[in-house]
Amino acid sequence: MRKMAATILPAPRLRVQAMKEYHPPLGNRDALRLDFNENTLACSPKVREVLAKISSGALTRYPEREPVERIVAEHLGTVPQQVVLTNGVDEAIHALFETFLESGDELLLPVPTYTMYEVYASATEVRVVTVQAGDDLKFPFDGLIAAITPRTKIIALANPNSPSGSVATRAQIIEIARRVPQAVILVDEAYFHFHGETVLDLIETIPNLVVARTFSKAYGLAGLRLGLLAGPVELMRWVRRVLSPYSVNSLALACLPPALEDEPYVEWYVGEVVAARAEFESALDAAGVRRWPSSANFVLVEIGSKHAEFVRLMHEGGVLVRDRSSDPGCDGRVRITIGTREQMRGAISVLRTTLATLGIKSEAQ
Ligand SMILES: Cc1ncc(COP(=O)(O)O)c(C=O)c1O
Repeated sequence: MRKMAATILPAPRLRVQAMKEYHPPLGNRDALRLDFNENTLACSPKVREVLAKISSGALTRYPEREPVERIVAEHLGTVPQQVVLTNGVDEAIHALFETFLESGDELLLPVPTYTMYEVYASATEVRVVTVQAGDDLKFPFDGLIAAITPRTKIIALANPNSPSGSVATRAQIIEIARRVPQAVILVDEAYFHFHGETVLDLIETIPNLVVARTFSKAYGLAGLRLGLLAGPVELMRWVRRVLSPYSVNSLALACLPPALEDEPYVEWYVGEVVAARAEFESALDAAGVRRWPSSANFVLVEIGSKHAEFVRLMHEGGVLVRDRSSDPGCDGRVRITIGTREQMRGAISVLRTTLATLGIKSEAQ
């Protein structure tokens, strides 16, 4: 059929036209991937076994989320109505924003933080209010409290935060939730396992607290796209209305129970990362590279004006790292994911060579 001549094209909403394109660094990625904060090794072998046994008949059926939500709820110590499974935490954030943000509302974010909060918000009619962390990149609690207004509708806190690795304390989260009863406090615990502290238990007593968890990090299932929201039944009920009923596919649902059951695997992987993080931090200190304390599976480092060359040379040495220079207050800073000790020993050697080639000692030292 001949293509119809179109003189007028359908225009997207104005907010969509104003959105920036999000381009994760993809392509030519045959290297040690220390740029996405993924599990750098593998998921549990028990998950692989289940995946291998999935029949083609099972693929003909639409996926059923509820039975797996019951299993997850039991694992988390909640009731099933408090848990919603999602296609990664990204879908959870998107759904939460769609559910609660009205035109003219404010989304309050400490920055720098996870990029997708702003991406999803920018497609809505909401005003994004940011509170810049200081040079220490610690959680800007006082600034956040001061930025609360009657229009504040969601406060999104990645805890631990990315790219800084910093944390908000339990007491700070409780205080924030108490100050803004009209707002949803989203505590995104994507990196929970590497930190070990949670506020999940507080969803019982704090009516405006919602916690997100992902299976993309410690569990090594980023490719399956699995995340969840846990929160008060009243709030989760509204989120369920917005979610697409089949957004979590049947392969992901089949893999979730064995992933949860194989706790020793997750404990082992997290133990590796925590030990490797300590070694890597010592190597950075010895090299005179400024770093920020991290409670997650990555470390933010100060490279300075040669940040782009640093990332390129690390890649040439076989290690992908992530330039965070365009994040607010992060010029010259690079985020490096922590993998296993063996992987990180290799990365340290590439790091040393790269620093020497560029003649870098952190400019802030
Ligand atoms: C704070 C934070 N939340 C959520 C995500 C995304 O999680 P998912 O893969 O489950 O969509 C990331 C990924 O980097 C993250 O850093």
